[in-house]
Amino acid sequence: MTYAATYPEHLAYLQRGYEAALATHGFDAVILCSGAATMKSRFDDQAWPLAPTPAYAHWCPLPEPDTFVVVRPGKRPQLVRTIVDDYWETPAPPESDHFWAGFDVIEVKPGLAGDALPGGRVAVITRDQGTSPPGTVNPTALIATLDLLRTKKTAYEIACLAAASRRAAIGHKAVAELFAAGTPSELELHLAYLQASEQDDAAAPYKNIVALGAHSAILHYVAYQREKVSGDTSFLIDAGAKVLGYGSDITRTYVRGTGSGATRFRELLQHMDAVQKDLCRRIRPGMPYEDLHDEAHRLLAVALRELGIGRGSAQELVERGITRALFPHGLGHSLGITVHDAGLKPRPPRPENKFLRNTSVIEVGQVFTIEPGIYVIDGLLGPLQGDDRRDLLDWSAIADLRHFGGIRIEDNVVVETSGIRNLTREAFAAA
Ligand code: GLY
Ligand code: MN
Ligand code: MN
Repeated sequence: MTYAATYPEHLAYLQRGYEAALATHGFDAVILCSGAATMKSRFDDQAWPLAPTPAYAHWCPLPEPDTFVVVRPGKRPQLVRTIVDDYWETPAPPESDHFWAGFDVIEVKPGLAGDALPGGRVAVITRDQGTSPPGTVNPTALIATLDLLRTKKTAYEIACLAAASRRAAIGHKAVAELFAAGTPSELELHLAYLQASEQDDAAAPYKNIVALGAHSAILHYVAYQREKVSGDTSFLIDAGAKVLGYGSDITRTYVRGTGSGATRFRELLQHMDAVQKDLCRRIRPGMPYEDLHDEAHRLLAVALRELGIGRGSAQELVERGITRALFPHGLGHSLGITVHDAGLKPRPPRPENKFLRNTSVIEVGQVFTIEPGIYVIDGLLGPLQGDDRRDLLDWSAIADLRHFGGIRIEDNVVVETSGIRNLTREAFAAA
């Protein structure tokens, strides 16, 4: 389905939701500011590419600075563009033209946007940079209500996210082949991913995590080394792509070699892939996401026992914190305009799940990641070795795995009435 076919219903959903929110919070209108580029530092005049304010991006995929979406009850939304005559800079052109017809478009010169903007009790949603029209800036209660509209994706948003998975899958396939065929460095793999997925580093939804060997155990590893790595090793890549402002967030892990460590790691990788697929199969509307996260720990414990890495019962491995030392992050998070999208954390997680970013009850239309992992992180395993939990792990197996760092497998899924649509696995199948 084309974007033009689904975008009008997306705008209608937003208009309905915004009208209700404005009435609830006593505003006559809301102005969503695209913002302006963030400076890299105050010592020079270099800027990052514009990442528009998420509330603006929810309506409009035009990444132009100082552009405003004006929403008023009963009126068509306005798109107020600031036209700048500038021979130093130009904004990136829109990726598609489907959105123009949804707005009354008004062009103004810099500083004149105010003439085109509404009066009355106006809320202004903006970020630190850029022009901020008069009004109540970033009212917390209104923003909280508007963020809830981001928890369920419209058909248009799902089309954008599916395309973002397809674009990333092309990059993932290219680097998997590069790794299988030679001895690339981390930097080469990072650059090859960007090239195959046709994106600039700064425009990606987040900085690619590209790690060989033990570096895979550093959860946010972006210190790409230039040395080629030969011999038995692993490769973890967590990298996405953006389409019309919506990002994918995908991780795959690979292993090369036939030594005992590589063989053990390969077995663990196969088990983790099975665990990840099993978790995806269990997703149903009505289930608390935190239950699924707990289930991930149970399944990981069973896998550890099957592989002889864990020595206690599966229950002991979970209850005594062994699985949490090996899998210290959350199972997943809401996905959309921002990588960790708004709206699916209505309450904090239980203390033992402190990094979990999704505590919602699963509902049709939610899009989130499923990303179980296992890592040899000495800072987390050391305390186990030093107390009465030391007999719950085979430390020679841990020593074998240390050189390979860790495993994460991450898919992006849409909740449907009787399960999920896995945007990532379908994208890999099509790539
Ligand atoms: N790539 C960031 C994350 O997986 O949450
Ligand atoms: Mn993620
Ligand atoms: Mn990720």
